[in-house]
Amino acid sequence: MSGERPLRIRAVTEADLPHIVRLDADAFPHGPYPFFVLRQLLTACTGLVYVVDDGSDLYGYVLGTAPNDAQSWVLSLAITPRLRGKGFGRELMTRLLGQLRAKGAHSVRLSVEPRNDSAIALYRSLGFVADPGGPHPDYFGPGEDRLLMTLAL
Ligand SMILES: CC(C)(COP(=O)(O)OP(=O)(O)OC[C@H]1O[C@@H](n2cnc3c(N)ncnc32)[C@H](O)[C@@H]1OP(=O)(O)O)[C@@H](O)C(=O)NCCC(=O)NCCS
Repeated sequence: MSGERPLRIRAVTEADLPHIVRLDADAFPHGPYPFFVLRQLLTACTGLVYVVDDGSDLYGYVLGTAPNDAQSWVLSLAITPRLRGKGFGRELMTRLLGQLRAKGAHSVRLSVEPRNDSAIALYRSLGFVADPGGPHPDYFGPGEDRLLMTLAL
């Protein structure tokens, strides 16, 4: 990291793509988005992707979808391991949720691994509520259960 350079949240640019690929692979070693998916998501989600930047490197990103029938999805959130627990995940989510609200979203959905306590705690603290009935079995394939959560904006 950066120790000296101040970190800030800013909108993504195309030049950030390789850094986002790396961040994603570090955060989700068992199932990162393939390069071609991330490239297309950055294009499809213009204005709804934010990064943590110190001017020389990136340390986190969040990616949301434009509202469809007033509903958006958060498709990714990741902070580099050594900068976790310092408020950047919350800052990224807050920035994205504000933008989704401005674009007319009335609700935001996401999926999270049911044992991902830190992410679930963050989402609950932002007002996300888990779908009743518990995790959705095999949501991402055999053995890949996911908890689905919704925030009413
Ligand atoms: C989940 C993740 C994005 C959180 O980012 P972060 O910058 O570490 O989180 P923050 O410092 O902003 O903390 C926000 C809240 O998350 C929760 N949280 C963060 N770390 C936690 C931990 N170790 N244990 C429990 N709760 C934790 C707390 O509710 C915290 O709020 P508080 O600081 O008011 O107590 C980060 O841990 C990460 O990148 N994990 C790997 C990728 C991942 O799981 N992404 C989510 C996929 S759905």
